[in-house]
Order: sequence, then structure tokens, then C-alpha cells
Amino acid sequence: MKALAWHGKRDVRLDTVPDPSISEPTDAIVRMTSTAICGSDLHLYEVLGPFMAEGDVIGHEPMGIVEEVGSAVTSIAPGDRVVIPFQIACGRCYMCRQGLPTQCETTQVREEGMGAALFGYTKLYGQVPGAQAEYLRVPQAQFTSIKVPEGPPDDRFVYLSDVLPTAWQAVEYAAVPDGGSLAVIGLGPIGDMSCRIAMHRGAGKVIGVDLVPERLARARRYGVETLDLREHDDVAETIRDLTDGRGADAVIDAVGMEAHGSPFGKLAHTMATLLPDSVAEKMMERAGVDRLGAFHLAIDAVRRGGTISLIGVYGGMADPLPMLTLFDKQIQLRMGQANVKRWVDDIMPLLTDGDPLGVDGFATHRLPLDQGPQAYEMFQKKEEGAVKVLLQP
Ligand SMILES: NC(=O)c1ccc[n+]([C@@H]2O[C@H](COP(=O)([O-])OP(=O)(O)OC[C@H]3O[C@@H](n4cnc5c(N)ncnc54)[C@H](O)[C@@H]3O)[C@@H](O)[C@H]2O)c1
Ligand SMILES: [Zn+2]
Ligand SMILES: [Zn+2]
Repeated sequence: MKALAWHGKRDVRLDTVPDPSISEPTDAIVRMTSTAICGSDLHLYEVLGPFMAEGDVIGHEPMGIVEEVGSAVTSIAPGDRVVIPFQIACGRCYMCRQGLPTQCETTQVREEGMGAALFGYTKLYGQVPGAQAEYLRVPQAQFTSIKVPEGPPDDRFVYLSDVLPTAWQAVEYAAVPDGGSLAVIGLGPIGDMSCRIAMHRGAGKVIGVDLVPERLARARRYGVETLDLREHDDVAETIRDLTDGRGADAVIDAVGMEAHGSPFGKLAHTMATLLPDSVAEKMMERAGVDRLGAFHLAIDAVRRGGTISLIGVYGGMADPLPMLTLFDKQIQLRMGQANVKRWVDDIMPLLTDGDPLGVDGFATHRLPLDQGPQAYEMFQKKEEGAVKVLLQP
């Protein structure tokens, strides 16, 4: 089959690889009909290279039609239309039963000290072949699948794999008080959808921060007050001005470790991509090459006693944090990969009863799988107004 594979920094290629097959009774094989590119894939494209091997198939935002199931899979059957969550989880262990499938004890990548395995996301997360391909082998398919109805286009449901539950969890963890204020830093697909969900759930004021004009414009269409990072010397001060001088009740960091604007971060970042893998890997894990620009802004912009919800992905172990400020402001901090299945029942009514979140028009580009390499480049450089790219194998 055809699949998009990682070959090096900023080098994704369309490869021909063996078709996947059922190897465990809990497996299913799904034929992909839509498979999206995520902001998280851009970390693979850049800083997470040391954890990738040449030929790794990437992608973790898929949907399609079940082709075949293993003998232990009874919840889905060939012919079913399914969305596949980005994390692989059993649904039966202690963690899954707590609503924490990101920590699934059946699929945890213990050799690396990490949580649940993810599709197409480095050896840290199990080096599981990803979904930007014609077919996907889905381990633990009895739980790692979401059956969706026939009728609406794929666009309606495909974001259940990642964007929707991720944004939902970001808003849930932000715990905005009724009618309160929320600042969302980063208006990529995750930040944009977090704004829409927060507005839908009754936030009084949502302020969105980014530096890409079309992303700011998209958020404004949903009633978000936007701030262009390039036009404000002190964004936190501007956010305080908009929130009675106190700062936002909650802040979502939807940028993660590749924030623009930190010169040291940029240097370390470039070093990590130029060093030999063995050295760069240690550096990423221990020293951290992270740019904490967005997180520092969140700490500054949140009001005293407020909540920061980190949904952007971070790595590294040794990043200095302003503990005095975090402690003195009494900031509540919540974070993590999205527990996809935990939120599906909350989100589904917003997909089957109209389209209040505007998912049908969310993708800016629909391209065939074989244009994947160009799609990565366009998305990373934020060219041609690319915000969300759906690949159609
Ligand atoms: N926790 C999870 O489960 C989960 C799931 C999906 C994505 N993510 C992470 O969420 C983050 C966003 O994902 P996305 O798909 O929206 O990606 P994206 O790269 O399209 O969006 C990031 C946005 O942040 C903006 N930005 C960069 N630096 C900024 C700064 N200093 N201040 C304000 N804005 C800035 C960029 O212009 C861009 O619009 C990524 O880190 C991704 O890895 C996490
Ligand atoms: Zn994703
Ligand atoms: Zn589990």
C-alpha cells in the first residue's frame, strides 16, 4: 500500500510498504477514507526527529471503513464507518476505567517510561505504524474505535480522532467560571476549536492570540477577540486590560514547544536537528530544547488563582520555570494528551444535531494522499492559508 513515511528532518515521502494484517485477536484493519495532518506531526517534522526511524509511517487522525476484525473484536464489524482515536487503549484496565486512556496500562510504553502507545508517533510512543496510509492496523480495536453514522461527509466526524476531544479537554481543564474569561494562545486547529467550544459552552469572553492573519480571522468569525502577537509588545498586559486589570480566569496554551519568539529556543532547536541522533535525543530528553514562550505568556496572562490548561505538546526535563510566580499567583495547572474516548459522548450531539462547531468547513485543504509531502511543507510554512489539511487516500 501507499503510506507517508518519515525520512528525516522536513523529509516526508510517499512510500510503498507492506499491507498491514491482523496479528492479534484484538486487531482490526481499517481502510482509510480521510486522514488529517496534525500540528503534532510538525514536531516529528522538526524537533522529534531523534526519536524517529527512517521509514516510520506517520499520522494519527484517521477515519475509514472496517475491512477485517480479529476474533476478540465484537464492538465493530467489517463495513462499519469508524473514527480511530490517536491513542491506543484497551478500555478495560484501571486507567481506562478512570477515563484516562492516555495512560492505558495495557499499551503503556514502559521501556521508554511513557503513557499509552500512539499511532505514528516516535519510539517514545511505541513506534506504531501511523494512519497517513491506505490501510491501518488498529490494535485494541474493541476500544480504539468510534462508530459513526452514515450520511454526513467525513469532515463531520474525522476530528473526533484528535482535534475535537483535544480542544474539549483543553476547555474542560481550563475550568472557566460561568460567563468568565478565557485566553487561548495559538489559533491553529486546536486553539481555534478550543475557542469555538468555549464560546459554545458559555464563556463570557474569549481572547485568541496568534501571529498568522488568516488564523486570527477564522477565530474572529466565531466571536473571539483576537490579538496579533506582532502588534503588541506586552500581550499579557493587553489581556489584563481586557479583563478588568486582573488577567484571564483561564488560559489555554495551544502552541506547545515550538513557539515563535524565543531566541534561545531557536538556537537549541536548530542544534537538536543538526546534532547526531544519539546526542540530540539526550538533549531533547534531559536538557530540553523547548521554547517556553507560550507557556510563560500563559503564566503572565492568567489572573491570580486562575487556571492554565496546557494542551500544546511539551518535551524536555530541565526547562526552568518561574516557580515563585506560579506559587505566588496560586496558579492551577492541568495538562496532558487528550483522553479521546473520555469526551466522545459529550461531543457527539454537537455533530449529529446540526454543526454548531463548524466542523464541516474546518478543513482548508483536501488533498490526495500522494500529495502528502507537499501538504506537510505547506502546513509547516503556513502557506496558502493552510490551517487544516485532510488527506484522502
Ligand atoms: N494534548 C494533545 O492531546 C494534543 C493533541 C493535538 C495537538 N496537540 C498540540 O497542540 C498544539 C497545537 O496544535 P495545532 O494542530 O493547532 O498546531 P499548529 O502548529 O497549527 O498551531 C500552533 C499555532 O500557534 C501559533 N503560535 C506559535 N507561536 C506562538 C506564540 N508565541 N504565541 C501565540 N501563538 C503562537 C502558530 O502561529 C500556530 O497558529 C501542538 O503543540 C500540538 O502538538 C496536543
Ligand atoms: Zn493530532
Ligand atoms: Zn487500558
